[in-house]
Parts: sequence; C-alpha cells; structure tokens
Amino acid sequence: MQRALTGIKPTGDVHIGNYLGSIRPALGLQERHQAYYFIADYHALTSVFDAAKMRAHTRETAATWLAFGLDPEKTVLFKQSAIPEVCELAWILSCQISQGMLDRGHAVKAARDDDRDINAGTLFYPVLMAADILLYDSNVVPVGQDQKQHVEMTRDMALKMNHRFGEGTLVVPEVAIQKDVATVPGLDGRKMSKSYGNQIALWLPPKKLRKTVMRIVTDSRGIDEVKDPDSCNVFNLYKLFASDAQVASLRARYLAPGLGYGHAKQELFEAIDVVLAEPRERYNEWMAHPDRLDEVLDAGAARARVAAQEVLLRVRDRVGLI
Ligand code: ADP
Ligand code: TRP
Repeated sequence: MQRALTGIKPTGDVHIGNYLGSIRPALGLQERHQAYYFIADYHALTSVFDAAKMRAHTRETAATWLAFGLDPEKTVLFKQSAIPEVCELAWILSCQISQGMLDRGHAVKAARDDDRDINAGTLFYPVLMAADILLYDSNVVPVGQDQKQHVEMTRDMALKMNHRFGEGTLVVPEVAIQKDVATVPGLDGRKMSKSYGNQIALWLPPKKLRKTVMRIVTDSRGIDEVKDPDSCNVFNLYKLFASDAQVASLRARYLAPGLGYGHAKQELFEAIDVVLAEPRERYNEWMAHPDRLDEVLDAGAARARVAAQEVLLRVRDRVGLI
C-alpha cells in the first residue's frame, strides 16, 4: 500500500487554511493509503519558546485531526519528537544538500522578508522536513502550495542519496496539492497563516467565529453597487464551504444591487459554521480528555517507530555506519 505523510506545526490556533489545504485532503487519503500524520513539534521549536504553549498547541493539533475524522486504528497519528531518529536522518541528509540551496529556502526567505530572527533551525528546516518524509518511505505528501518547494528539496536529497549510495536507499516522494485550496486567503487577502495573524481559527465559539468573519477586508462598494465576486475574499472563502447551488446564488446576488458585504459575510459565517459544528463538538470532547489524546499519540508513536527504525537501519547500512 502506498504511504501518505504530512505534518502540521503546533505554533498557534489551527485555522481553516490548515484544514482545507492539508487536513481535509490528507484525510481523504487515509482509506487507500497507509497514512502517517504528525504534529511537527521539532519544527515549531524554531519559533515557539514557551513550553506550556508548545504542549497546549500540540494537544490542540492532535484533537483537530481526530475531530475531523482521523481514524487512529487506521492512520498513525504521532508527535514528531516521539521519534528522535528523525534527527539522525536529518544529519545524514544535511550532507547531501548545499548551503546555497538552504539559503534559498522558503522559510528563510519569509523570515528575512519580515525581518524576523533567522536561527540556524530555520535554515535547517527543509532538511528536517525531508527527514520527516523520507524516514517513513512516504510516497505522497498532501500539503498546501507553500510547502511545494520543501517537498522538491526533499526529492533532491532522496535522489542524491540514491545516486551516491545505490537505488532504493530512499523512496522519492510526490507532492499532492489540491488546486482549489492550494492557497486559502486570510482576513486581509494574503495567504492565511498563523505567522501573519490573519487566520480564521477553527475552534472559536460561533459568536467569535462570526466576529472574525466580519473582519474580512473588502472594497468599499455600497449596498446599491454591483460587486465583483471573483476578486472578493468573502466570496472566495464562501466557494470553499458552500454547495455549488449556494455559490451560484450568492454570485448572482453580487452581480445585482442590494447585497451589502455584511450580508455576504453572514452567509459565509453560516456556511463555515455548518461544516464546523459537529467537528467542534468532537474537538471539545477530545480536549476535555487529554489522557485519551495522549494514549492515541503514544500508540501512534509505537507504530511510527517500527516503520522509522526499518528505514533508518537501511540508510545506516547503505552509508556505511554499520
Ligand atoms: P501556518 O502557515 O499557518 O503556520 P503550517 O505551516 O503549520 O501553517 O501549515 C500546515 C499545513 O497547512 C501545510 O500543509 C500548509 O501548506 C497548509 N496551509 C497553511 N496555510 C494554508 C493556506 N492558507 N492555504 C492552504 N494551505 C495552507
Ligand atoms: N513545514 C510544514 C509547514 O510549515 C510542516 C511539516 C513539517 C511538514 N514536516 C513535514 C509537512 C513533512 C509535510 C511533511 O506547514
């Protein structure tokens, strides 16, 4: 069976960009793939410097996967740091990639653009991510568009390893990006991201969710003016939650006078809330039982470890460490 793998960093509130770009497509793969989905806590260490926050966000991220229907009997859900072997593979991979390539990495560039501190972990980020993927012989990696470059770098490292140490040393993975949700826009129209603070968090109570939706930035056209649905953030988000018939109907209202952005936002809020209502209950239930969450993560780690050790043994052998 083909293997699917993806990770989400526990760096803040999980948001609808994470859900649409990564969680939903990944869960769609769990029937036909052996899936390994994890919470990338080592990666979060590049920007989270508070142990209590790290623990809280880790549990929240795990509960989010479960709330949306991850089946822990089938799919392996685990914490990245439960398998420290990933750091050994990262070291081996770091010797297959040039410093110049890392310097062009997307996470470093983003940190540089925002004048954020670039620690060595940020520079090394793609290597650890490659190790995540390659340690489980992953065939497919469901992610949002922003991670494409990282998966390409992973492929480069795997190909280099196979060239140097023999075919079959590592499995070369494919990226899987779902087009319509490749880049979900945030409140200000830029890519929705925890790092921009423009996210719609998944687990807000309905009142707060509505308030957040009302903050979406639009142009200033008034109620009596015709509006352009395709350049409107509200409409673009609506398309991702509503049915085709609902989308067609709201589109028609944009193209005629009489619709205010407040009305459109209300429609959007309702469409999001319908999708989130049941998962929200399951999420709250999981969060009320941290011991159960930890059990799921521990059982996942035990299964992940078996897969990881097999691959690492093969790699250690190929490179001459054994
Ligand atoms: P963030 O950018 O908010 O810090 P992460 O880096 O933890 O989120 O992303 C976890 C997963 O969610 C990745 O696969 C990423 O590509 C996806 N993702 C994040 N933001 C978006 C978005 N706005 N649109 C589509 N996918 C996204
Ligand atoms: N870098 C990813 C992000 O910021 C998270 C991540 C870490 C990941 N390791 C991974 C995603 C392995 C896919 C596969 O979103």
